Amino acid sequence: MMTELLVAVAVIAALSALLALLLLTADAVLLAYGECTLTINEEEEKVVEGGNSLLAGLMDEGIFVPSACGGRGSCGLCKVKVLEGGGPLLPTEMPHLTEEEREDHWRLSCQLKIRGDMALELPEEILSLQEYKTRVKRITELNYDTRMVRLEMVEPPELKFKAGQYIQLQTPAYGLTPEPVYRAYSMASPADRRDYIELIIRRVPGGICTTYVFELLEEGDEATVNGPYGDFVLSETDREIVFIAGGSGIAPIRSILFQMEREQNPRRATFFYGCNELRDLYLVEEMREFEQKVPNFEYVPVVARHEGEWDGETGLVTEAVDRRVEDCSDTEVYLCGSPGMIDASVKLLQGKGLTEERTFYDKFA
Ligand SMILES: Cc1cc2nc3c(=O)[nH]c(=O)nc-3n(C[C@H](O)[C@H](O)[C@H](O)COP(=O)(O)OP(=O)(O)OC[C@H]3O[C@@H](n4cnc5c(N)ncnc54)[C@H](O)[C@@H]3O)c2cc1C
Ligand code: FES
Repeated sequence: MMTELLVAVAVIAALSALLALLLLTADAVLLAYGECTLTINEEEEKVVEGGNSLLAGLMDEGIFVPSACGGRGSCGLCKVKVLEGGGPLLPTEMPHLTEEEREDHWRLSCQLKIRGDMALELPEEILSLQEYKTRVKRITELNYDTRMVRLEMVEPPELKFKAGQYIQLQTPAYGLTPEPVYRAYSMASPADRRDYIELIIRRVPGGICTTYVFELLEEGDEATVNGPYGDFVLSETDREIVFIAGGSGIAPIRSILFQMEREQNPRRATFFYGCNELRDLYLVEEMREFEQKVPNFEYVPVVARHEGEWDGETGLVTEAVDRRVEDCSDTEVYLCGSPGMIDASVKLLQGKGLTEERTFYDKFA
């Protein structure tokens, strides 16, 4: 009896050891993906180390796929066409892909890991995106939580972009992040100046990139950006324009206003700029100057709460828009800032005749 028991224990122990060995071997085999080949547009091959996300793997190879959320799976911008390899769709990709896109082999590159060879189809726009080495030329405090950072292009020496587009700023590894991360910032400067870009950056308490910008970045420092990305650009119609922004959402609209000034664009345009308190307002004088320099432009700052002197619009930006905009059936609306403000404004204006094709936005989230 005793012998049988000992044999049974020995068999169970041996089986357990075998199972553990199998698991360890499987783990080693499955997780060590080794070198993988990414074939791009059937012509170019990039050999990369497996295990990374496709987004990061491509970036290491100098291929910059648009990404506004830094790879957190929330912006949905990093879609690429994976014709072969890649495995089944992941639950984190599903919300960002339409039925049609799924059938057409689109994947969310920040969620998809490189686990083997893949065949990709990438458009020319993506292949032409570049990384730029820059130097911080000037930092200007706009108010207590927002600064303008001017980056002078070093290599390549010029960045060609359209007013309204954004770049990704690299935050190097530091206390809050063990590896570099990227965040999107809209160009606020004139697009005809290719030798520098200006960014308007608002501090997010505890935020990885903004803490770096406010606590570590100094004039004279090097900074790395890539891009330019985005299609939040002025259309070529002659329709009336309503711009709506809050906080640092003023950035791309400032760049578009420089464009309208340069072109002496005659379109009627009203810019509603919402903020909480008077101390949040900045660039007011410059906006008033645009009223003089852009043929049919009006700037409407809207302050939610105020204690001091203020004879402008008050309340939520949507309330001021509601008071002043009657009919949107032939108007284009450009919105930039928090998702909540954008969604509320679009809902309001759809009730006044705004359609999806005439709505353009960049959600800063
Ligand atoms: C297309 C695009 C253009 C953008 N342009 C600009 C710009 O011109 N200027 C600018 O200042 N920002 C802009 N942003 C936002 C910017 O990319 C970052 O998301 C933001 O600066 C926060 O980055 P972070 O690394 O400091 O914070 P993270 O470390 O990413 O976030 C820390 C925490 O704060 C939350 N959080 C992130 N962003 C915000 C926010 N804006 N408000 C409140 N909580 C937040 C996160 O959910 C997280 O919990 C843009 C975003 C997009 C998508
Ligand atoms: S980078 Fe934003 S969803 Fe992939």
